[in-house]
Amino acid sequence: MAFRVSSRRLTSALASSRVPLQSQAVRRQYASVASATARSNLPGDVRGAIEKEASLPNSDPPSDSQTARLVNDQMPYMVPTYVRPPPMFEKGEGCYLWDVENRRYLDFTAGIAVNALGHCDPEIAKLMGQQAQTLIHTSNLYHNPWTGSLSKLLVDKTLASGGMHTASKSFICNSGSEANEAAIKFARKVGKTIDSSGAKHEVVSFHNSFHGRTMGALSATPNPKYQKPFSPMLPGFKYGTYNDVSAINDLVGQNTCGVIIEPIQGEGGVNVASEEFMVALRKRCTEVGAVLIYDEIQCGLSRTGQLWAHTALPKEAHPDILTTAKALGNGFPIAATIVNEDVATKIQTGDHGTTFGGNPLGCRLAHNIVSRLSDAGLQQDVITKGQLFREHFKRLQQRYPATITEVRGKGLILGLQLSTDPTPVVTAARERGLLIITCGTNTLRFVPPLVISPAEISEGMRILEEAMAVVFKEKEDVPGTKGQQEMQDS
Ligand SMILES: Cc1ncc(COP(=O)(O)O)c(C=O)c1O
Repeated sequence: MAFRVSSRRLTSALASSRVPLQSQAVRRQYASVASATARSNLPGDVRGAIEKEASLPNSDPPSDSQTARLVNDQMPYMVPTYVRPPPMFEKGEGCYLWDVENRRYLDFTAGIAVNALGHCDPEIAKLMGQQAQTLIHTSNLYHNPWTGSLSKLLVDKTLASGGMHTASKSFICNSGSEANEAAIKFARKVGKTIDSSGAKHEVVSFHNSFHGRTMGALSATPNPKYQKPFSPMLPGFKYGTYNDVSAINDLVGQNTCGVIIEPIQGEGGVNVASEEFMVALRKRCTEVGAVLIYDEIQCGLSRTGQLWAHTALPKEAHPDILTTAKALGNGFPIAATIVNEDVATKIQTGDHGTTFGGNPLGCRLAHNIVSRLSDAGLQQDVITKGQLFREHFKRLQQRYPATITEVRGKGLILGLQLSTDPTPVVTAARERGLLIITCGTNTLRFVPPLVISPAEISEGMRILEEAMAVVFKEKEDVPGTKGQQEMQDS
């Protein structure tokens, strides 16, 4: 397919340069494009564009492509909240995406840790169709069979997993931000119940965390990039240093109603909380009567190889509230706030609510997804595949010791810390058919579908290695090749 696109582009580039086509073979033979253009009298920029496209399996769509035309037509109507690379994705299956020009990409991003069961999972697609023809929405003013069954399943699976041993009830909503918003509100309500003066209202969170974009969740996300445009933040939010055990007693005090923390920080750079820190935080929360909230929106639902990232921690570090989203719907927007009985008893009818949250369609899908993601075989495979990634990372680190400084994470939430800007590596990988994302400061983030196969991991790591070889200009290390030559041969 890469050749079909390349040949069309080549034809149009040649036509615009008013240089006649040298031969039909140039149009048909992907491998011969570079040598053909090298022999031609084409202007340098045209030749450069053709050679780039000919040498890359997934060269980003150029400015005269069908993709660029679509993007240019549509972008003026979209609030510019995101910068996006040139391809436009149209189709997904398993661990692969296809763009509108029918080029294939291996997806190491899973829609930012969302598509744990892969793209367009047939079972989910079938259920979606069935439930859409049965009942989609009635509002929370009425009962339906699925909101309650998902709430129960989340509690049952959490207890069975060895995580949050006090899990008791769930509140179902639509997004990670909303799940955290509910958790923060619940913590405030608990604080008010303990101290009716209202003084116990402070919420503690940690630097490099990400809890969402709504005003409450954003106020708990101390990143100036996200907070500054919308300041002032809500009153009563305090920030501490992740894993700093010695600072906990000053940070969390009698006025603290809640502490929110990711057991593994995703956006902040794939930073793993230490057991010592989490146990100390739990102890302090219990001492002062603060609600401990674990945000497992990115790191939960078996991404670490256990149902919850905190399942690995002792009971002495378990939370009062647990939030989940992302993989819960495998792409369908749904989230949950799981609470213990102490918290649940403080929440009264009418305190909180949602129109769409808990709709039968989303809940039926999530019910299927949670059942499948809590499978012990899948979890064991996640651990094995995480180790496979790490073996590849080790080789890369040996090759670029000054550039790759650290590997962090657990299971299939992994970060590769670089000493330089990773953006060129992301671009070079994409143009070779691999999607990866970044996080933190100069960190490459790996959050593939949990169902990725060992062969797909190897394929992606081969592409990443090629991309790094080009970007870090250590091409002489690639055996038997000269510079970018290896791309043309692959
Ligand atoms: C840990 C964590 N919490 C909360 C959120 C916010 O979730 P959403 O974008 O669904 O509102 C995210 C999203 O990236 C996240 O990673």
